[in-house]
Amino acid sequence: PQTLYFTRHGESEYNVLGRIGGDASLSPRGALYAQALANYINALGCRDHVTVWTSERRRTKQTATDIRAPKRVVRALNELDAGICEGLTYEEMQERFPQEFAWRDQDKLRYRYPWGESYIDIMTRLRPALSALEDDHNVVVVGHQAVLRCMLGYFLDTKLDELPYMTVPLHTIVKLTSYGYKYRVEMIKLPV
Ligand code: G3H
Repeated sequence: PQTLYFTRHGESEYNVLGRIGGDASLSPRGALYAQALANYINALGCRDHVTVWTSERRRTKQTATDIRAPKRVVRALNELDAGICEGLTYEEMQERFPQEFAWRDQDKLRYRYPWGESYIDIMTRLRPALSALEDDHNVVVVGHQAVLRCMLGYFLDTKLDELPYMTVPLHTIVKLTSYGYKYRVEMIKLPV
């Protein structure tokens, strides 16, 4: 059967500060997760040849560094582009752009940041990557919260309106194993 592993990047310096977007490096704790993830994947052994996909962002590449497997940088995996709100905390966003903040709250799925993207935009740009994933066997996807909500939602048939609220915790591997046309989900929290 096909096995797909999904994980967010380890905690980044921006996660620590509560800032969204950007291209920060991993925090010390995030670096520990990168190590724990590599130990886990490397221990799967040669029966489970894997390919690792990362986004173009530092934090996903750093998270994948010690995994011994071929790697691909996939632009479609980049995090939701928050446009004019990149680098802000949610508090700052509410202060500086109260109208935007309210609109997003009313329709998080369709809300598009000025000069940025919506969840629907991410779904659209992910299509080719999702098709490729369906045809592949053992892939480790190191991604970002919003993008992983869309990818997991796709495989698990989640209702579109629920996508933006799915829980995808840090430092946890989401393992999908196919059986027939469905997928079984396992959450593997790595202690860091
Ligand atoms: O901006 C990136 C965040 O990971 C997405 O979180 O859609 O819940 O604001 P949010």
